[in-house]
Amino acid sequence: MTTSTPFTIKLSTNPTSQENRETILATPGFGKYFSDHMVSIDWSIERGWFDAEVRPYGPLSIDPASSVLHYGQEIFEGLKAYRHADGSVWTFRPELNAARMMRSAHRLALPELPLDLFIESLKQLVSVDKAWVPSAPETSMYIRPFMIANETFLGVRAAERAAYYVIAGPAGAYFAKGVAPVSIWLATDFARAASGGTGAAKCGGNYAGSLLPQKEAYANGCSQVLFLDASEMKYLEELGGMNVFIVLKNGTVVTPSLTGSILEGVTRESIMQLARDRGHKVEERKISFDELRDGFSNGDVAEVFACGTAAVMTPIVAIKGPGFVIGDESAPAGELTMSLRQELTDIQYGHIPDRHGWLTQL
Ligand code: COI
Repeated sequence: MTTSTPFTIKLSTNPTSQENRETILATPGFGKYFSDHMVSIDWSIERGWFDAEVRPYGPLSIDPASSVLHYGQEIFEGLKAYRHADGSVWTFRPELNAARMMRSAHRLALPELPLDLFIESLKQLVSVDKAWVPSAPETSMYIRPFMIANETFLGVRAAERAAYYVIAGPAGAYFAKGVAPVSIWLATDFARAASGGTGAAKCGGNYAGSLLPQKEAYANGCSQVLFLDASEMKYLEELGGMNVFIVLKNGTVVTPSLTGSILEGVTRESIMQLARDRGHKVEERKISFDELRDGFSNGDVAEVFACGTAAVMTPIVAIKGPGFVIGDESAPAGELTMSLRQELTDIQYGHIPDRHGWLTQL
């Protein structure tokens, strides 16, 4: 199936009233509200992709024996739609999300959704739910494509039936404090992903495994959990739901290299490009926790930040762990962090020219 196969459009007979939608758009939070429609496309080993639809948002009916419910055969993506001053709606580097979803599908033995169908599914959904894209500063529509194995079969093998969906909803800042600096919690008893595992795939299981340490982080006043590599528990990998960067005092921007257990973030990639454009040296390499700890106290590490589609770029000013605190929880956000963040969001919202051709109109 290609995009020349039309999507069937089934409009909601009971859409949210304009008044209720405007109330939601005024304070959307993150991941709490959803637009009136969703996309679904089915897949089977015999037919490939079929029955592409835009349909009213609502519960899925799946058999209790579906593989996703037992073996976690599931993948997802996250991207945003931004409203520009002229009312048009754009998304950011969707081809990278499409490619990552194909890599995730490959790793999870799910079917690979072609790039054109992925992009078309976003366009179809946004064309019916454009009114859900907010326009206030720092707001957007968060789009969540995902795929599940829905074959009714309890044997442990790759499913022969799957479904792809796209849901979306208005979004403000991911963290409760908005763009303000956060503290993170070092997981000392847990790892996120091991070599040869699924760490580079965006699959639900990686996030499920992060929830217990994430609870520990919240209990200690931290917004995210920091994972070290699983084999030596020595090198920074990523946070529960986002990548991590450090900025050295000489301006070098450093992020953990993609070892196979780290998610290749679209924001991560874009920040490296923007930093290079400004003449910063950018390194993808191992960063030991010792380098971070010592750098924080002797000033060699000037800034630390988290990044991801949902979080954008969030300054990190303190790292806590069992019995220790590094940094200062009341410190201001790093200068380079905030200025790269401004440039990135200025491109996304159309405030400055899109010199790399990163935007796609929806
Ligand atoms: C995203 O940034 O889009 C993610 O999928 C991460 C999640 C913490 C919301």
